[in-house]
Amino acid sequence: MATATKKAPAKKAAAKAASNGAAKHSAASSGTHTNGSAKHGVAKASKAIPPKKAEGSFSEIPGKYCVRDIALADEGRKLIQWAESRMPVLMHLRDKYKKSQPLKGLRLAGSLHVTKETAVLVETFAALGAEVSWSGCNPLSTNDAVAAALAKSGISIFAWYGNHEDFYWCIERTIDLKPNLTLDDGCDLINTVHEQYADFARKEVIGGTEETTTGVQRLRARAAAGRLFYPVYAVNDAITKWDFDNVYGTGQSTLDGILRATSVMFAGKNFVVAGHGHCGQGVAKRAKGMGANVIITEVKATAAIKGVLEGYRVMTMDEAAKEGDIFCTATGVKDIIRKKHFLAMKDGAIVCNTGHYDAEINLKELAEVTKSKRTIRENCEEYTLKNGNKIFVLAEGRLVNLAAAEGHPSEVMDMSFSNQLMCHLKLAEAYKEGKKLPNQVLDIDPAQDEFIAETKLRTMGMSIDKLTKEQLAYINDYNAGT
Ligand code: ADE
Repeated sequence: MATATKKAPAKKAAAKAASNGAAKHSAASSGTHTNGSAKHGVAKASKAIPPKKAEGSFSEIPGKYCVRDIALADEGRKLIQWAESRMPVLMHLRDKYKKSQPLKGLRLAGSLHVTKETAVLVETFAALGAEVSWSGCNPLSTNDAVAAALAKSGISIFAWYGNHEDFYWCIERTIDLKPNLTLDDGCDLINTVHEQYADFARKEVIGGTEETTTGVQRLRARAAAGRLFYPVYAVNDAITKWDFDNVYGTGQSTLDGILRATSVMFAGKNFVVAGHGHCGQGVAKRAKGMGANVIITEVKATAAIKGVLEGYRVMTMDEAAKEGDIFCTATGVKDIIRKKHFLAMKDGAIVCNTGHYDAEINLKELAEVTKSKRTIRENCEEYTLKNGNKIFVLAEGRLVNLAAAEGHPSEVMDMSFSNQLMCHLKLAEAYKEGKKLPNQVLDIDPAQDEFIAETKLRTMGMSIDKLTKEQLAYINDYNAGT
């Protein structure tokens, strides 16, 4: 688990907040927290909120929200409206269920990048009756304006860009809500609930969802160890999530992040993609589309062959390190780029990561061979090595698409977040019907995927064919010959 300790480069919003007199945090401002536990009659007694570690200005109502600057709310609201207009499936679901209030009486805690798209999801949960509490799931992925808009509209939210020191403090604050539903992107909330509130997790939480590939891997490991205390839907594994968000979303947003942080030309560059899974495939496709010469590194032969047949070169990282101009990791594995690779790289190489955790590029080992370091531009750090070469690291090795850009476009998050919503509706329905789902990682119902894909197509004004009765009979006839 990546407990962040480094200092973030302050974003413009942070600087603005520091100068506009937003409520300054002090121990006094974080008085006793009445978190509603008596009201809900669950496990833990209410407790005083411990102080944040971060210095600086925040807008804060203890126990309700802590964001960078509530004055950014109007700016954030416009971004959310922009996203709403590009998320027709999720908005359709909001409309369909807002009258029947299927989430009424339920409390949902979420830990997922605070973007304009996430805000549409959060406000849909609230519109369907849930009480919602939210934190970010990465120190560098919160949009401060969006966080302010959510706080202003009454959502309980604890998130700000550059939140290294208080990452888990924010997650803890969402658990103060005593959630019976959890929503994760990367398992930090689930892990915290399970490891620190195990009894509560067993008795009070109905279920949860997990958004991302590596998070689902961790969940499966937890389940295999017999340490999963409530059912969790693997939203990542929905076809309408990982065949689209992971591929096209990651592809576009990663290149967007690299461009915003560097403005380099891709055409003619050797672009090394580490990992040719769904996310790596997206990055490679888009880099190729921009004229880069793509090199794939892999540990899985089948994924490597796919790369070969796409026309890429495949080689080990030891070999690629010497050839690459731009490196992007998308593996979910740690230490993909490490000391020997930095030492082998060309002068001027650009290195970034688009995987969920910041472990793929070993910055500690880079520091060991570095003579000096300076910030060249936002999200771009220049490391001058002892051998004289310069290496540029983007967004501290954290996911470049969210730290340096805005994450995946609304259009693709529409399907991912419709899956999130529908899984929570299923959990709520099972609970209300008194059905106990197994404490396992749950697969997505194929009918859910079909519904989301069909609705998406419809909103794009497209129709598809239907099999005739004869065609159906034909494909189901086991004895049909040549
Ligand atoms: N993950 C990748 N892109 C995202 C976005 N736009 N919102 C939330 N989570 C994301």
